[in-house]
Amino acid sequence: MTRKYAFLSIMVGVLMVVFAACGPSATPAPAPATEPPAATDAPAATMAPTEAPTEAPPMLSGDVTRGGRLYDKWTEELGVDVPDGNHPLWAAQSTNTRTGADTWRCKECHGWDYKGVDGAYGSGSHKTGFKGVMEMSGKDPSEILAILKGSMDPDHDFSVYMDEQDLIDLSLFLSTELMDYSTLINADKSLVGGDLEAGQVFFNEVCADCHGPQGLALNFGDAAEPEYQGTIAVDNPWEFIHKMRFGQPGFPAMPSLADDGVTEEDYANVLAYSATFPTSSPVTEGGVLYDNWMKALGVEVPAADQPLFATQSTNTRTGADTWRCKECHGWDYKGVDGAYSSGSHETGFKGVFEASAMSAEDLTAWLTGGKNPDHNFAGEGLMGEAQVGMMVAFLQSPKVDVGAFINPDKTITGGDLDNGEDIFSGLCRDCHGDDGKAINFGDDTEPEYLGTIAVDNPWELVHKVTYGQPGAVMPSGHNMAWTLQDIIDILTFVQTLPVD
Ligand code: HEC
Ligand code: HEC
Ligand code: HEC
Ligand code: HEC
Repeated sequence: MTRKYAFLSIMVGVLMVVFAACGPSATPAPAPATEPPAATDAPAATMAPTEAPTEAPPMLSGDVTRGGRLYDKWTEELGVDVPDGNHPLWAAQSTNTRTGADTWRCKECHGWDYKGVDGAYGSGSHKTGFKGVMEMSGKDPSEILAILKGSMDPDHDFSVYMDEQDLIDLSLFLSTELMDYSTLINADKSLVGGDLEAGQVFFNEVCADCHGPQGLALNFGDAAEPEYQGTIAVDNPWEFIHKMRFGQPGFPAMPSLADDGVTEEDYANVLAYSATFPTSSPVTEGGVLYDNWMKALGVEVPAADQPLFATQSTNTRTGADTWRCKECHGWDYKGVDGAYSSGSHETGFKGVFEASAMSAEDLTAWLTGGKNPDHNFAGEGLMGEAQVGMMVAFLQSPKVDVGAFINPDKTITGGDLDNGEDIFSGLCRDCHGDDGKAINFGDDTEPEYLGTIAVDNPWELVHKVTYGQPGAVMPSGHNMAWTLQDIIDILTFVQTLPVD
């Protein structure tokens, strides 16, 4: 059975909810009795009508799915700095020892399940003991709005940080969208039900274009602690559902499914299917480490240059570059026999193209100094055992020779521009912009865009599109199940983008 999901075309941002203050779930009729008589401290724009008591009830309108993303991480959704220090209410508890940004997230105090101390955050490292927000369900959004402006507690005044519409969206979200997930998820995180086959159909249709068929295309963690779709589905199913319903803060391209005709059953199915995904992907994690393991792990660059770097003099780089595998062995894995056989990157060192035939034992020895004490990348401040394992998996994976596609003058032969443009528009564009210039990898004086890299270093682009970008959430083509041809097609298209 294949179902088509028509809502896909109306995804993000278009969902507007208009909520009458004495709306459907509240007692309908005699509004005037419960309305505050005009004055008070309420802003006129959103609250009770100032004159005739017979006027229509005040309306709050806004975007509830945006409200859900604000609840998740409002600083990210709004693109604003996290306020200094901890949230003022944070000091009222001592069980949750997080600091800074986390303490400002609604979800950190009230839970992904909206139940606070009565839910999943009733124990464990996230416990604060604070109450949930479940009682807000069905409440008059203007009352909730007042709470968010500090009516209950001046320390809970968010109007200092967010504007009126942000708080309205949050209020509407709390009033209309809270779901009790206990019908889907047991307290021990096991799932109540879910149809794997239906989940697969839904996932492939709605999620796989970005997350890959096995949910491994995007690593939300890093090479030190990888986190994939499957990781979240198992470790935090409430978070998974919340994000599925409302989307990802700061990333408008991810769909938000709430109120798009998606049923509770659909959520259960996708969750159940996602919980079957692998939670690690050593080959791509290793590929990202090969690129820049310091950036991928967020560790300091070793103080001295890599000792083997001094055994050559053609490449005059210093510091971090001297520790990158790619700097000595090449983006094409061919070292002196490949693109780094000449030019400023030349070291004369051999490649690792043949390493795919070496045993895990030998490769581990190479990476830990067993073969050559100066070729040691493991230990304190360097890579750990797990990362050496990822690197071995990467080195052992079959390497493709892109020589048939990339000419010595860096032009491409055999690429399909249309397919490349299709893939680019479907995914890369969301982050890199129509012209590949939304992210500048260089600086103001020497900007570097996607087009620049594709033209200057096509091998680098192939590597990064295949494995991902260290320190960033970027899809891995390998885990998107793209073929080499697909990747060459992307490269062909990206070479047509502006270079400056
Ligand atoms: C640092 C912890 C913390 C954060 C962050 C936080 N709250 Fe609260 N919230 C509380 C506490 C504690 C209460 C209980 C009342 C009080 O003391 O203010 C509360 C009460 C509430 C209530 C009233 C619940 C009821 O049943 O009376 C709502 C609604 C609410 N918060 C929404 C939010 C929203 C939306 C956000 C994010 C913008 C948020 N809170 C962020 C701690 C927090
Ligand atoms: C258009 C691309 C796109 C689609 C389609 C998409 N996602 Fe996402 N999703 C992303 C991106 C990109 C991120 C990470 C953004 C970031 O962290 O900067 C993400 C993050 C997530 C996260 C949160 C990870 C975390 O901890 O931060 C979950 C869970 C998730 N997606 C689930 C889904 C599900 C389920 C579907 C299908 C119903 C889906 N996504 C569809 C692009 C997409
Ligand atoms: C400073 C330059 C440099 C860096 C950085 C470097 N290597 Fe090497 N690598 C070499 C040299 C030189 C050899 C050959 C050494 C020898 O023969 O003793 C070598 C050998 C190897 C070999 C054995 C290849 C074979 O065919 O025998 C592998 C595998 C390898 N490196 C992988 C890596 C990985 C993975 C990284 C990143 C963690 C890395 N190297 C970082 C210079 C470097
Ligand atoms: C979810 C967002 C996202 C998507 C989708 C995405 N990228 Fe990226 N990409 C990034 C981020 C963020 C960076 C830069 C991080 C940094 O500054 O290190 C980056 C960096 C890169 C770089 C490396 C630039 C450099 O020299 O460091 C290349 C090449 C690249 N992306 C290509 C692509 C291509 C091609 C696609 C589509 C197949 C794509 N990206 C899709 C987020 C994304």
